[in-house]
Amino acid sequence: MDGNGRWAQSQGRERIFGHLNGVEAVRASLKAATACGVKYLTLYAFSTENWNRPKDEVEALMTLLVHTIMSELDELDKNEVRLSTIGDFDSLPENCKVELRKGMERTAHHSRINLILALSYSSRREITEAVRKMVSENISPEKISPDLISQYLGTAGIPDPGLLIRTSGEIRISNFLLWQIAYAELYFTETLWPDFGEEDFFAAILDYQNRERRFGLTSAQISSSEPSSHEKTKSGGAL
Ligand code: FPP
Repeated sequence: MDGNGRWAQSQGRERIFGHLNGVEAVRASLKAATACGVKYLTLYAFSTENWNRPKDEVEALMTLLVHTIMSELDELDKNEVRLSTIGDFDSLPENCKVELRKGMERTAHHSRINLILALSYSSRREITEAVRKMVSENISPEKISPDLISQYLGTAGIPDPGLLIRTSGEIRISNFLLWQIAYAELYFTETLWPDFGEEDFFAAILDYQNRERRFGLTSAQISSSEPSSHEKTKSGGAL
C-alpha cells in the first residue's frame, strides 16, 4: 500500500492525511477482493523498517490502526471477514495489540475471506525466526524441505499468494513475503494507494487472469496437460 505520503504532499498536506485516506482504499480493496471470491488478502501495513520513520508519523499510524480496527470491526464481522496478522506482534503498542486480539477473536470463526495485516513485518526477519526455531528444535538437516520451512513461517497454513500488487510506481518488493512469492504474479501500478479503488483492484485481477502461470513448465506442457493438472497452472487459484 504505497504512495500515501506522496499523495498527501502533492496536495500540500501532512503525510498522515495520506494514511487517513489510505483507509478508504483498504475498504475498497477488501470489498473488491470479497466480490471476486479472493480467499486471502494480505496488506503490508507497517514494515519493521517503518519504525525508523519520524516518531509522530509512527504514532499517528498506530493510532489510525487502533481506530480503524475499532470502527470497522462490526463491518468485518458482518461481512464474515476473518482478521489475522503476521509480523512481530509483540513489538506493537499495547492498545494496538488489545484491539487486534479483540478483532481476531471475534472474527476467528469466519471463512469468507481472510484479511491478514502485515504489521511490524519483515520477510528476512520471518525467515530468520523460522531458522532459529528449527535449529532450537534440533530438526535434522535431511528433514528440512521447502514445505517444512513454510510451516515455520508466520504464514503457516496460508497458501502462497497468486498475485502481488504494489501501488505508486515503485518496482521493488521491499522485504515482503520473499519466500512465499516465489511463483506469484507481480502487478505494479502508478496509482498512489489512496486513489486505488475497487475498479483498480478489478483491473489487477483481470490482468492476473490473463497471465499464463507456468511454474517452470513450458507453454506447450501447460496447454497439453489434463484439466486437473491444468488447474494448478491456471490463474484464479488462491490469491
Ligand atoms: C506506505 O506509503 C504506507 C504505509 C507505510 C502505511 C499504510 C497504512 C494505511 C493504508 C492505513 C491503515 C491501514 C490499515 C490496515 C487499517 P508511504 O507512506 O511510504 O508513502 P510514500 O512512499 O508516498 O512516502
